[in-house]
Amino acid sequence: MEYYPNLILDALKHVVHPGKGKDIVSLGMVEDDLRIDGKRISFSLLFDRANDPLIGSLKKACVKAIHSYVDEEADIEGNIYVKVKPKAKPVETKALPSVKNIIAVASGKGGVGKSTITSNLAVALAKAGYTVGLLDADIFGPSVPIMFQTEDARPVLEKIEGKDKIIPVEKYGVKMLSIGYFVNPDDALIWRGSMATNAIRQLINDGNWGELDYLLLDLPPGTSDIHLTLVQTISITGAVVVTTPQNVALADAVKGVSMFKSKNINVPVLGLVENMAWFTPAELPENKYYIFGKDGGKTLAEKLQVPLLGQIPIVQSIREGGDNGEPAALNEASIIGLAFADLAQKVVERVELRNAAMPETKIVEIKK
Ligand SMILES: Nc1ncnc2c1ncn2[C@@H]1O[C@H](COP(=O)(O)OP(=O)(O)OP(=O)(O)O)[C@@H](O)[C@H]1O
Ligand SMILES: [Mg+2]
Repeated sequence: MEYYPNLILDALKHVVHPGKGKDIVSLGMVEDDLRIDGKRISFSLLFDRANDPLIGSLKKACVKAIHSYVDEEADIEGNIYVKVKPKAKPVETKALPSVKNIIAVASGKGGVGKSTITSNLAVALAKAGYTVGLLDADIFGPSVPIMFQTEDARPVLEKIEGKDKIIPVEKYGVKMLSIGYFVNPDDALIWRGSMATNAIRQLINDGNWGELDYLLLDLPPGTSDIHLTLVQTISITGAVVVTTPQNVALADAVKGVSMFKSKNINVPVLGLVENMAWFTPAELPENKYYIFGKDGGKTLAEKLQVPLLGQIPIVQSIREGGDNGEPAALNEASIIGLAFADLAQKVVERVELRNAAMPETKIVEIKK
């Protein structure tokens, strides 16, 4: 008698997988490599694992089914092979795999100089030879376009590997994205929280950031939905908390530090930056006036046992640089340029120590 494939498959439909209660044909376990050569029949069975305990008994059951339903003289014994299902490709879970370190710059209190510190730190890192990105995460009060005088920039979309990607704006060696490039900030003010969190996710995931040593996040003040969205979207290497020396700011800085350190967020705190540590007039650069109190940030860092990364004075050129889109750190030879270069160096050191001592920060799971 001549065999034909359907006859064999019909026979195999009598073989029921004991665990799954269905026949092996409907379970898709019979591979489509069935070969018939005279009386010789061969095919493969597909299993999840190479050591599946049912391999032996199912093979036997197949031989039996073919002998009883097709032909008892069929040559099948020893011709049933086993294939293992290829493992599903692991889904890329890490957002921004090409970014080495993601640093969040935060504060408890508003207006302490987060955006100023972030912009200057970005410039100082770029000057030191690192590849740097800057994400303005302050959806309701973006500052990056002003601080880099890129308000008129309109990032373009490019199709990369079939996906629309946003090409960041680049200035002073820093790649930047801000909601300010896409909408009028006053329009964003009336957004619901979900629109803001979607916007931030899009800037992260759709930004064509490329290979970066550092991606800095300029956060909104305090704690917000944006903070939560960020820790749920990307693995933040560490946080830098900015404070000014006066008591109200210090009290809020404590809250900022404890938010990152809290069990469910668990982002390492790289250290504190004391901004507006003293006032120095341009004409009397040696004079220091401690108008917000002396060493408030330094003392707090000791108390919280986190490193003090730097003390940045109040200087007119810092404010002017912020307003004119020319971060003061661009002027490397100036006292301020040196202060930011030093801050950049400290941040790099802390990041390297952190990376040597701890695993990657876990992305916070979204609880449903
Ligand atoms: N060290 C400094 N010397 C002089 N001016 C400064 C200094 N730091 C910040 N400023 C000025 O203070 C103002 C507030 O700073 P900035 O916008 O950076 O604060 P912020 O913490 O980002 O504020 P927000 O909480 O609104 O995001 C800006 O005009 C900035 O130029
Ligand atoms: Mg800001």
